[in-house]
Amino acid sequence: MTNKAIIVQSGGGYDRVVIGERDAAAPKIGEITVRLHGNSLNYHDFAVVSGIWGPKEPRIPMADGAGEVIAVGEGVDTFKVGDHVVSTFFPTWESGEPLVYGFATVPGDGVDGYAREIVTISKNAFTLAPKGWTHTEASTLPTAALTAWRALMSDDNLKSGDTVLVQGTGGVSIFTLQFAKMAGATVIATSSSDEKLERLKALGADHLINYRSQANWGKQALDLTDGRGVDHVIEVGGPATLDQSMIASRVGGHISLIGILTGLGGDLNIVTVLIKQLRLQGVLVGSRCQQQDMIRAIDATGMKPVIDKTFALEEIVTAFRYQESNRHFGKICLEM
Ligand SMILES: NC(=O)c1ccc[n+]([C@@H]2O[C@H](COP(=O)([O-])OP(=O)(O)OC[C@H]3O[C@@H](n4cnc5c(N)ncnc54)[C@H](OP(=O)(O)O)[C@@H]3O)[C@@H](O)[C@H]2O)c1
Repeated sequence: MTNKAIIVQSGGGYDRVVIGERDAAAPKIGEITVRLHGNSLNYHDFAVVSGIWGPKEPRIPMADGAGEVIAVGEGVDTFKVGDHVVSTFFPTWESGEPLVYGFATVPGDGVDGYAREIVTISKNAFTLAPKGWTHTEASTLPTAALTAWRALMSDDNLKSGDTVLVQGTGGVSIFTLQFAKMAGATVIATSSSDEKLERLKALGADHLINYRSQANWGKQALDLTDGRGVDHVIEVGGPATLDQSMIASRVGGHISLIGILTGLGGDLNIVTVLIKQLRLQGVLVGSRCQQQDMIRAIDATGMKPVIDKTFALEEIVTAFRYQESNRHFGKICLEM
């Protein structure tokens, strides 16, 4: 079977993105063939496509794919033809402690991803999608949602009554807000835009801070907890936001180091980490088992993702330019 595929030439860059064709073989033992219908954009995919971390060889980009099983190979009893499925960020990390280093096994980076119409791949590269979700909705889950889920639920057992601080209105932060509210937590949400803050309120955020006009937003978050401090911070900003996150945290608080929106490295105020006995945890998405746990919770609660805009597969560069503009609220998707 021949199918349409987006291919990023070696080195990456928007001018090196072409529409090509790739063969999809019949599934062998332990494999499934999926007709893909949706992708979602993440910063990591942007880095590959734009050339920041361009591929060494021609690569089909996009880590997050969702679609329908159209064939199953011998020995596959966990999927059947017609199942709606969604990809996993780490097809080789089934469960337990992290078993993966870097991006060598990640679709759209170390191996070909899902910006294509059909893929034949190991059954471990997919899970069942949430019931009743469209393929586009399901495609929002593997990177952004699973990172938020793992940070809150696996790395630090979120409890009802905890306070969670989320930064900005990207995919990871909005899923964090949704999961935190699902678990009965209080959410302090920040954004550079008052209009986006109103939208966060409509999603259930309890307290709102404009981090652009309020440079000391960490102290404000601390005050909102009557000086106790927040239990969890989903740190997507990185070096320029970590100090404020530590100010906002309670003694013994948990900070998930997730994003690099303000840069790759910087000074760490070690004294604050020591005095507050903070727990700083690096996070790289999550395991297939954690994805299944997350989808079980979604099925039980009826949660839906927040999708800002959807583009056609062929409009992938336009979609990434839109992501770069930071005008979005939640996820940006591609549909085929
Ligand atoms: N470690 C992992 O496993 C993992 C997984 C997924 C993503 N990430 C990383 O997490 C980060 C966010 O990813 P995403 O997919 O959610 O991105 P995204 O959807 O592109 O979100 C970008 C949003 O972040 C907010 N933002 C930008 N600069 C900020 C700052 N200085 N302080 C607070 N918020 C800021 C902005 O919100 P406003 O417009 O509301 O201000 C912006 O719209 C990226 O660095 C990405 O690489 C890491």
